[in-house]
Amino acid sequence: MSFQRIIDGFICLIVLSSLGGCVSKENEGEYQSGEMEHVKRDKHRPAFHFTPQSNWMNDPNGMVYFEEEYHLFYQYYPDSTVWGPMHWGHAVSKDLISWEHLPIALYPDSLGYIFSGSAVVDWQNTSGFGEDGNPPLIAIFTYHDMEAEKAGRIDFQYQGIAYSLDKGRTWTKYDQNPVLPNQGVKDFRDPKVFWYEPGKKWVMTLAELDHVSFYSSTDLKKWEKESDFGKGFGSHAGVWECPDLFEIQVNGTNESKWVLLLSINPGGPQGGSATQYFVGDFDGQNFIPDESFSKEILNEQAVWLDYGADNYAGVTWSDIPEEDGRRLFIGWMSNWQYAQVVPTTKWRSAMTMTRALELHRTESSYRIHSKVIDEYNEIIGEGSSIENLQADIYMVNLSVSNDFEFTLANVSNEQVVIEMTGDTLYFDRSKSGIVDFEDGFGTRHQTYVGDLKIEKLTVYVDYSSVEIFVNDGELVITELIFPNQPFDKITVDGDAEITITRPIKEIM
Ligand code: FRU
Repeated sequence: MSFQRIIDGFICLIVLSSLGGCVSKENEGEYQSGEMEHVKRDKHRPAFHFTPQSNWMNDPNGMVYFEEEYHLFYQYYPDSTVWGPMHWGHAVSKDLISWEHLPIALYPDSLGYIFSGSAVVDWQNTSGFGEDGNPPLIAIFTYHDMEAEKAGRIDFQYQGIAYSLDKGRTWTKYDQNPVLPNQGVKDFRDPKVFWYEPGKKWVMTLAELDHVSFYSSTDLKKWEKESDFGKGFGSHAGVWECPDLFEIQVNGTNESKWVLLLSINPGGPQGGSATQYFVGDFDGQNFIPDESFSKEILNEQAVWLDYGADNYAGVTWSDIPEEDGRRLFIGWMSNWQYAQVVPTTKWRSAMTMTRALELHRTESSYRIHSKVIDEYNEIIGEGSSIENLQADIYMVNLSVSNDFEFTLANVSNEQVVIEMTGDTLYFDRSKSGIVDFEDGFGTRHQTYVGDLKIEKLTVYVDYSSVEIFVNDGELVITELIFPNQPFDKITVDGDAEITITRPIKEIM
């Protein structure tokens, strides 16, 4: 985040209220303020979503909370806008909304590129890397040995660790890496680690092609296999990646369950990448899907975390204080189907809005709800009317019943249509602006909602994304868009009423 941009955004807001809006014009890939010539912005750069300052980003990695900072690491290639030798980029935030960019945390080395993984606070210094009164942060990641892959070997992925004693600012790689050598599986990656208190041990969930394996350790250095899970459950239309296993209280009860998030690529509900999940129990050794849930994940069926095309490889924060208690999640807001060709030039990819995951009991099973975190209230302005929107980026609340059509449009006649017909919710981005960079992008996506009674839609519109939270997060749809002008007109037809529209402040 650049400080100058906050100031610019702030000035723009003042101008917005006093002059009746920052008029946006297209100007060589940038929007330019009509009133203030110096207020220029990258056309599709999000205003309230995390992006790298420049070049390529994919998965969020190593999210951990420590000493009043939320850390966000991410798959980063600093030399190009397409995927390449992976590093861990790094940013910190005090509120999960505005981010401070920090230097690259982990660089590739002779063992390979640094692929996805997690980070934990080693409170009891089980690893021995800590100092008195200063617990180490430990990053657990996959090494990917490109040379070995090119040579046709299958053992080119293995797990390594690194530690930091200065709040994540500098990292030392363990001199005896790898801590978990390859076990004869080509896809052997994305370790997500947590402390399992009943067994006084660390548990690692690792994606291994078509299943996950659980490993345990008392010191984060020696790992033993516990079990595996996944064959015969959920979708296997693509490779399994980026797992996350965590315990969560069932909303409004004393019952707790275990949730396993699992990203797959391809095979998502809108094509390409997506994240499915499983609800069950974990005893420190085995994950067993709940009986009620397992019926829904037989015969390649999946329950998806997000029904849009652009929420992938998301996992949750480690070490959120108990008094907060939320299970905070962020995903990569893209899809491998087109991530490397989307029409941005200086930077590629953003993260989703941060969400708090909740687990709800339904009549027959369990469902995750994705809640927009309250912190966003800080950047959401006062209400404006549909007739006089005067904002390029905004939040809209719709009360709906039966069929409806909600359209975002701009002066270039580009549009995004969100439509409910019968039991299906559509998101049509076929005329949403630049769509021709990939055949599958400009399509009409559909989500069968079944018995879900849709009463409310909260829609967050940024310069290159739309996120729809149905009934406060019971169902979520996250989608990228690349309009040539911002969508500054909204219309609604049918059994729907716009209850609030609010401009959102530019903070990134
Ligand atoms: C998911 C993924 C991970 C891997 C990383 C490489 O998007 O393929 O499985 O660790 O990206 O950048």
